[in-house]
Amino acid sequence: MRRWIVVGLVLFAGVGPGAGVRQAVGGHEGLSVLLPGNPLEGSRLFTGKGCLRCHAVHGVGGTTGPDLGRGLLNRPLLEIAGVMWNHSPGMEHVFQEKRIARPKFEPQEMASLLSFLYYLGSLDPPGDAAAGARLFRQKGCQTCHALAGKGGSVGPELDKYSRYASPLYLTAALWKRGQAMAETMQAQRVPRPTFEGNDIPDLLAFIRSAGGGTERVYVAPGNPKRGEELFTEKRCVECHSIRGHGGKVGPDLGMRLKGSLMRITGFMWNKGPKMWAKMAERGITVPSLTEVEMADLISYLYFFQFIDPPGDAGRGQLVYREKRCGTCHALRGVGEKVGPDLATVEKLDTPLAVITEMWNHASKMEEKMTEENVAWPVLKGGETADLIAHLLSMRGGPTQPAGAAKEPEPRRGRP
Ligand code: HEC
Ligand code: HEC
Ligand code: HEC
Ligand code: HEC
Repeated sequence: MRRWIVVGLVLFAGVGPGAGVRQAVGGHEGLSVLLPGNPLEGSRLFTGKGCLRCHAVHGVGGTTGPDLGRGLLNRPLLEIAGVMWNHSPGMEHVFQEKRIARPKFEPQEMASLLSFLYYLGSLDPPGDAAAGARLFRQKGCQTCHALAGKGGSVGPELDKYSRYASPLYLTAALWKRGQAMAETMQAQRVPRPTFEGNDIPDLLAFIRSAGGGTERVYVAPGNPKRGEELFTEKRCVECHSIRGHGGKVGPDLGMRLKGSLMRITGFMWNKGPKMWAKMAERGITVPSLTEVEMADLISYLYFFQFIDPPGDAGRGQLVYREKRCGTCHALRGVGEKVGPDLATVEKLDTPLAVITEMWNHASKMEEKMTEENVAWPVLKGGETADLIAHLLSMRGGPTQPAGAAKEPEPRRGRP
């Protein structure tokens, strides 16, 4: 089933709405702490820039390069960029063999592409219908709900959920009906179930198989930028802060929620009764969320894991030396002139601009490295962030983490 979710997702590349949301990235104007680009836009670029010709996502796509759907890229932005950079010579080889030009990017496009690659790591392993069938009994769903004609009649039949390939429909419905359900459970003395690990995809896999659904209805990748707005519009911000900014009634949600999108919806469900009680206390009506809004909100919360910890310019100086960038590049006029001066090229003023141009110029650099006998510099873990912090510190201006603009200022009240 996961395969189909991803096919749908990749196909969105062609059919999605043309929302080319412009976002401030890496130090341009912006109110947001995380502006990693739009994963939906990134899924279009993945097809549009030809990545899909060589790379499959869960078995769908080209086979020349590795399948990128393995959750390998579940790491911060600059680390993903580092992985692409490290494999650049390997790709270059195939580009030449197949006479494909290296796809070039604008920093904004690169941000979206990387956020799409990151998004691929957010999907759960495929649901297991047999495990789901067990959960459906153990969690008491069957006591109240019928599926394929079997089960209780206290709640509505769940057959209609079998058309949805994306578990977001199920979780949005659980959120919408959650309060009424909790009351019924209390009245019937059924313990309120909680969800962990892969429970939600497993349950959906069972509902799909038992309900005989054949249609495939998808939700496009959530837009974290829109999710950030919803966080204020739906009044979450009145109780939750994001890295210290916002309400203090519930926990701070910046960096706190680890795991896939479905795990995060599970956390929300699990804490539902406590949240509703607090909402009632403060006169806040429980906000209703459509599937799309749920996707946007959850991806906003998910994307905090995507922000790089700030690079360290001191360590970056060592990386710069170790990787021998100085064999060819000068910094502020000091050093070799084989390549451009990395502290004075005007456009290299944000982390995203630096990684984007490294990718765009990689073919030429590799040629020169072969000439100059420099091994291809492999960047691991936080090295990319450190290296870039060093380069930016040489420009004299303050350094900023990739994807981040200023400290967050979640707006209060309705905009
Ligand atoms: C012409 C074929 C081709 C195209 C087009 C291509 N790649 Fe690759 N890619 C490869 C090959 C081959 C490798 C493995 C290289 C190696 O082993 O060093 C690779 C490796 C990678 C890796 C590292 C994967 C890992 O498992 O470590 C990433 C990430 C990646 N490519 C992303 C992209 C993106 C994003 C695009 C589109 C902008 C793209 N590739 C376009 C052939 C291609
Ligand atoms: C004690 C009875 C009870 C149990 C147990 C229960 N539900 Fe419900 N459920 C209800 C009731 C009642 C509603 C309708 C609430 C309303 O009127 O808004 C509902 C609504 C729903 C809905 C929304 C249906 C719609 O079409 O709007 C979904 C989805 C759902 N339940 C799934 C589940 C799942 C999955 C489980 C097991 C984890 C479960 N329920 C356990 C009673 C229960
Ligand atoms: C009236 C206050 C209030 C509002 C409004 C509110 N929450 Fe909560 N939320 C809480 C409280 C309190 C908890 C913690 C319950 C606990 O951990 O005991 C919580 C817990 C959570 C958790 C689980 C955190 C964890 O670490 O397990 C998530 C996720 C969450 N809320 C998301 C949201 C979202 C999204 C919104 C807006 C749609 C929202 N909340 C609106 C009070 C609120
Ligand atoms: C063997 C020589 C060589 C080495 C080593 C080298 N580069 Fe380069 N680099 C070049 C050349 C030549 C260009 C210009 C390529 C072109 O014109 O397409 C370039 C271009 C760049 C650009 C784009 C500049 C622009 O104008 O947008 C960046 C950024 C960059 N290099 C960063 C690095 C970093 C970081 C390292 C160390 C990890 C490094 N380079 C190592 C030769 C090198």
